[in-house]
Amino acid sequence: MSVTDLPDSLLKTGLQRIQREVDATFDAFLPVPDDSRARLVEAMRYAAMGGGKRVRPLLVTATADMFGVDRDAAVRTGCAVEAIHVYSLIHDDLPCMDDDDLRHGKPTLHREFDEATAVLAGDSLHALAFEILSETATCSDPFTRAELIATLAAASGKDGMAGGQMMDIESEGEDYDLHTITRLQQLKTGALLAASVEMGAILGKIAPEGRTHLRAYARDIGLAFQIADDLLDVEGDAEKAGKALRKDEEQGKQTFVTLMGVEPARKQARALVDQAIGHLAGHGTEADLLRALARFIVERDR
Ligand code: IPE
Ligand code: IPE
Ligand code: MG
Ligand code: MG
Ligand code: MG
Repeated sequence: MSVTDLPDSLLKTGLQRIQREVDATFDAFLPVPDDSRARLVEAMRYAAMGGGKRVRPLLVTATADMFGVDRDAAVRTGCAVEAIHVYSLIHDDLPCMDDDDLRHGKPTLHREFDEATAVLAGDSLHALAFEILSETATCSDPFTRAELIATLAAASGKDGMAGGQMMDIESEGEDYDLHTITRLQQLKTGALLAASVEMGAILGKIAPEGRTHLRAYARDIGLAFQIADDLLDVEGDAEKAGKALRKDEEQGKQTFVTLMGVEPARKQARALVDQAIGHLAGHGTEADLLRALARFIVERDR
């Protein structure tokens, strides 16, 4: 059976299930306090619950499932990565960054609340990610917990998402070559996606040498994911995407699409997905969800 023949239901069911589980987990972690911090927690809930595709948590659980990891542990780990992702979007939308008014089809956090609350909600989601990973309910083994924390920390900071966001800002109005754009995107977007797969394997107690092919899969889908986002910016439907589009060129961003044009970028994204799926050749049907997820990453419309 080729990958294109995989039942859509596998992905659809997988996405629906993880979306429910992530919302329920954030709900449990974010009770609104009965004091003046209520506004902060309301804002965290506003951004974290309902709306996102939950691709990163699904990458964690799909990988963890391959190695028989307890579902609750995998979902909590997925929520930790998602907390970092949600915080990155809150800050990405701020006037000092991309200055966006719409996210997930509703006003961005600083529009619905205010900028100070958006900064603090981002900070608190950042902290929440590591709080979740440090709890024994996520994993009883302290060495595994430390490895999860180290992996997410590396993917979030200067050598990961935040570093990539800096490169993205610095790229405005510049003329970057393919190598530099690849590096920028690997950090900005690829690092958290790669960490999701890695953390699924860490929960499965897979030694680093056994993760090489999964890292290769994750690197390829990470790049394909941002190319898809940049393609959506050029030719997507803003209503479906739930955010403003046609902004990258106007803001002078350096992307694969601005560098090579729409069709070559699409070809590149599809080639990366084929390559990613190729890295899973040693697995049987247990990797079908990761294969379907790779396809979804370039064919999505939001
Ligand atoms: C959008 O990420 C920002 C990028 C890193 C490209 P997603 O497309 O995963 O955002 P949501 O969470 O599903 O809205
Ligand atoms: C954001 O990339 C990447 C992050 C680390 C948040 P974009 O700025 O292209 O994401 P969108 O298009 O606003 O979702
Ligand atoms: Mg941005
Ligand atoms: Mg943006
Ligand atoms: Mg974008």
